[in-house]
Parts: sequence; structure tokens; C-alpha cells
Amino acid sequence: MPSPDQLQRFLDIATEAALAAGTVLQTYWGKLSEVQIQEKGRSGDLVTEADKAAEVAILAVIQRHFPDHAVLAEESGRQGALDNPFLWAIDPLDGTTNYTHQYPFSAASIGLLIDGVPQVGAVYDPFHQELFRAATGLGATRNRLPMTVSPTDRLDNSLLVTGFAYDRRETVDNNYAEFCHFTHCTQGVRRGGAASLDLAYVACGRLDGYWERGLSPWDLAAGVVLVQEAGGRVTAYNQEPFDLLSGRILASNGRLHSAMSHELMQVKPLIEFSQL
Ligand code: IPD
Ligand code: CA
Ligand code: CA
Repeated sequence: MPSPDQLQRFLDIATEAALAAGTVLQTYWGKLSEVQIQEKGRSGDLVTEADKAAEVAILAVIQRHFPDHAVLAEESGRQGALDNPFLWAIDPLDGTTNYTHQYPFSAASIGLLIDGVPQVGAVYDPFHQELFRAATGLGATRNRLPMTVSPTDRLDNSLLVTGFAYDRRETVDNNYAEFCHFTHCTQGVRRGGAASLDLAYVACGRLDGYWERGLSPWDLAAGVVLVQEAGGRVTAYNQEPFDLLSGRILASNGRLHSAMSHELMQVKPLIEFSQL
């Protein structure tokens, strides 16, 4: 178990790395040409020079301070031994589609797993200059002031957020039915386009709950710490313990958790949108 001082140091380095990425993302903003935007295989899954340059900036900070830690970074993959207890999960640009359209809702997301459990998270949105941070037992902050989840306790008073994975055209499990279902029984469902910021917005009380499938560890590692430390709850859809490798998450202010889970468990797929 790391001490609070150790966790604080990890958090400070995560912050330094997230801010460094933010500078890179601002530098490239609005300057990407078509040749600097590529598809990664799946339709709609983009990568740009900005993603790659931001990742280089993050890795330089992490590896300078913690050369013996392992990393899992979206664009360059995994480095370090599989049994290393420290694993940094890095998304240099979460919200790449937004970024390429100059829709300002993107962030750098840096989480640290210790023995497989997310314990440190820094999410930085350079376009609104918002820095969200948390570490286990140290609380959660937005721009260095404490943040907490919302008090909303009824679904029909809630504002939720979700997203749609890049495989949505190829699977019946495309989240369309869940989106319709919650749109019907809440004040609204937003589709942010950056999972780490969706979680940060739940953590700071702007949104009351979030669910999504088809995600990667780097999308979630930082954000789950934000929500938990801000007083919220993170689980699987069925309220079983959260599994970072499942790609599936239900995060809420806690008060809405059972109700959201109950709704998610009874939704039937909208198969007419599937090509299967
Ligand atoms: C994506 C965003 C989006 C989510 C996708 C993610 P990227 O990350 O977080 O909100 O719906 O599933 O892959 O590709 O912009 O880093
Ligand atoms: Ca992402
Ligand atoms: Ca990304």
C-alpha cells in the first residue's frame, strides 16, 4: 500500500504530464491537415499528429520520474513487465473526433493502477483550462478546489451522459437502446465524446451518471478515481465490482446507482440499427 505522501507525488507527476500534453494539444489545435488525421482500422477511430505528440510529452514526464514503472499508452502500447505493480494508463487525447472537428471537448487522461487498481487520476481539458485530479484517500479536486458529485436522487431529475464505441455499426450491443431508454426517463442524455471528461463531469456534479461499453483502460483509469473520490460509485452495469478490462462502466453520484443499474439490466437491443 503506498503512503499518502507517495500517492500525492504520483498525482503531482500525473498532473505535470497532463499539463504538458495540454500544451501540445493547444499547439496543434485547428492546424491539422488531412494527412495528419488517419483512421486506425475501425471506421471513425482516428489518430492525429496531436495524439502522438501529446503521448510523447506525457511519456517523457512519466519515464523521467518513474523509469521503473510500466506504461500502457493508447498510441504506443505497453512497456514494462506484466508483473510490475505500477502501470500508468495514458490517453494523450481523449476525444480525438471532437478535436479534429475543433469541437472543444477533449482532454489528456492519465491514470495510475497500483496492483491493478486505479488509484491516481489526472484529467486536463486545455480548452476550458480545467484540471481534474484525485488519488485514493486524498479526495478529488477541480482546479485545485474540492469537488463532489451531485445530490440528485431521482432519475427523472437527472442529466446523464454516455458514448458509442467505434464498433457500433458491427454489433447489436451498440448502446442505442440504452440511450433511447434513458432519454425517455431523465431530463436528458448527453454524448460528450470524451469518456475521461464524462467521468470528470460526473465527479464535479455537472452530470449525475454515466454508462458506456466498448472502452479501453486508458479511457477510464483516471476518471474512475475522480468519481470515487468525489463521493460517487463505479461498478459494472449489474452493480458487480468494476472491471477495468471489461470496457463497460456504470458511474454515478451513488444516489442514482441502483436505479440506473435496474434500467440498464432491462433494456432490449434495438436490432434494426444493426447490420447483423
Ligand atoms: C473515445 C472517447 C469517446 C468514447 C469512445 C472512446 P478517443 O476515445 O472517449 O467518448 O465514446 O469509445 O474510444 O478515441 O477519442 O481517445
Ligand atoms: Ca479515449
Ligand atoms: Ca485517445
